[in-house]
Amino acid sequence: MPRGPNRPMKEFVVNPLDAAVHAIEHFDRLDGVASSLAKAVGRAVQPRLVRNILSGTPLGHPLHPVLTDLPIGAWGMAAVLDAVGGRASERAADILVAVGIGTAVPTAAAGLNDWSDTQGKPRRIGLVHAAANTTALCLYTSSAVARATEHRGLGKMLGLAGFGILMFSGFLGGHLSYSNAVNVNKTAGRRGPAEWTSVLADHDLPDGGQVKADVAGVSVLLYRSGVAIQALDSVCSHMGGPLDEGKIADGCVTCPWHGSTFRLADGQIVRGPASSPQPVYETRLTDGRIEVRRKR
Ligand code: FES
Repeated sequence: MPRGPNRPMKEFVVNPLDAAVHAIEHFDRLDGVASSLAKAVGRAVQPRLVRNILSGTPLGHPLHPVLTDLPIGAWGMAAVLDAVGGRASERAADILVAVGIGTAVPTAAAGLNDWSDTQGKPRRIGLVHAAANTTALCLYTSSAVARATEHRGLGKMLGLAGFGILMFSGFLGGHLSYSNAVNVNKTAGRRGPAEWTSVLADHDLPDGGQVKADVAGVSVLLYRSGVAIQALDSVCSHMGGPLDEGKIADGCVTCPWHGSTFRLADGQIVRGPASSPQPVYETRLTDGRIEVRRKR
């Protein structure tokens, strides 16, 4: 066995949850069913209003993580009351189980909408996350039925099993957000030049033309319409799609990946799934060069 720096490193698995995540991420047999489900979800959320609401576009923040607090909170409190609340808390526990069931449905709809835009490892993790949540929902629904038919002991056990699965699913959801950066604003921290900075010769941007230019660590989409030159970050805030390859029409650019549409003038979202507007830059012409700077 070779020793020293050339010795191959043994792959360490930190804990069973990380091992589970690793296994799911590499289980490519999930891809077939994931692809079919993602297409079905994509068709279901096609109307602009549905897409915008489920994506959190009017909220300025993805909707799914906001909604998850409701079923997790309700079911978590039900578990506490079931465990230590005694007979006096049975009615309250039943109500919380029902609240969790009711709020899990819109939460799942928002999550499926987000998930349908993912690919590769995040898509596999998201599929298992959704399956686990569906299992938890079924267990809690069974728990509610058991409670209503005077089988409280069974209802408590079903609820506890649902809560265990919910916690595992929550771990997967956290992995998607904090390790895979799914649905994190991809332009966060991309500030561009604070001072006027030359990016392109004037004659390199024809009327009606769009060009990508790199400046001060960011890439900028430049578009000319008559005498007006508009500039916004070329990395889509949704999942990092190339806006410089997007279609420009009616003063807006549409991302080629999932169809988010942004106004060129101010970066505001016309159509989701993006929930964060695009950074825009001021432009001017100086000595035959186009200059940009961060909007103030
Ligand atoms: S990357 Fe998803 S809409 Fe642009």
